[in-house]
Amino acid sequence: MLPLVGFGTYPLRGEEGTAAITSALEAGYRYLDTAVNYENEREVGEALRRSGIPREEVRVATKIPGRFHAKDLALKSLHDSAQRLGVETIDVGLIHWPNPSRGLFVEAWEALVEAQRQGLVTTVGVSNFTEDHLERIIAAAGVTPAVNQVELHPWFPQEQLRGVHDRLGIRTQAWSPLGKRQAPFDEQPVADAARAHGVTPAQVILRWHVQLGSMPLPKSATPQRQSDNLAVTGFELGDDEVAAITALGRADGRLFGGDPETHEEM
Ligand SMILES: NC(=O)c1ccc[n+]([C@@H]2O[C@H](COP(=O)([O-])OP(=O)(O)OC[C@H]3O[C@@H](n4cnc5c(N)ncnc54)[C@H](OP(=O)(O)O)[C@@H]3O)[C@@H](O)[C@H]2O)c1
Repeated sequence: MLPLVGFGTYPLRGEEGTAAITSALEAGYRYLDTAVNYENEREVGEALRRSGIPREEVRVATKIPGRFHAKDLALKSLHDSAQRLGVETIDVGLIHWPNPSRGLFVEAWEALVEAQRQGLVTTVGVSNFTEDHLERIIAAAGVTPAVNQVELHPWFPQEQLRGVHDRLGIRTQAWSPLGKRQAPFDEQPVADAARAHGVTPAQVILRWHVQLGSMPLPKSATPQRQSDNLAVTGFELGDDEVAAITALGRADGRLFGGDPETHEEM
């Protein structure tokens, strides 16, 4: 079972980054989301050790970048990540982006499945995969990813893809769960719900994720916000409130990163 809320670590780096990640662990986060391309796996590992929390209580997720999709390179990428993190086992291994124009994501998936068989990775999943990408890797390897981490926030609620995840038994994880710098904190359904429940707009949005079945990965370098973002179990949104927030979604709602069909993340 994954926790309801995880901690996003991009772009926390250096001593300041280590301190912010350590503070998140002290606030109660037990799931850290990193990636080779965030260049902060060492900081994540250092925070883990500094916190003194037993290793088995914290899940660490990292991601294979596009330049390492070929099978041998993908396996090497995972070994190198484990070394930088200072862990024997990667709890959650993901493919960062499918990069379909390169056509190697099935190979990267086979490498992840092999790494799981070897015991290097406990849980295997993907990120930014479409329905078609998901079906191709499942057909090729006979293994369904445990999670698909995708852009998801009130501007971009991913209703269709969440339905696909439900059908295939895949857990939805949300990146930029608050909508980052363009967070819809002032939008009426969010502000109304915050007032009604006596919570912050960020807590409303994170609670909306939880009720959709999405696992949000909010990033904050601020200890107070880190704690607030975890406190999403003391209230419940009504179905009408959830629906009104979902209705903020719009065709041009994708904020960052681009379309998984065309985006190249190396
Ligand atoms: N798989 C992928 O392709 C992918 C892509 C992008 C991101 N991610 C992951 O998703 C994580 C989160 O995404 P993100 O950082 O883009 O977006 P986000 O978590 O939606 O937003 C982070 C921003 O919101 C602010 N914030 C956090 N809590 C707040 C609160 N309670 N009230 C007001 N502002 C608040 C933070 O500022 P302060 O830090 O100043 O508090 C920061 O500027 C990343 O760290 C990364 O782990 C994955």
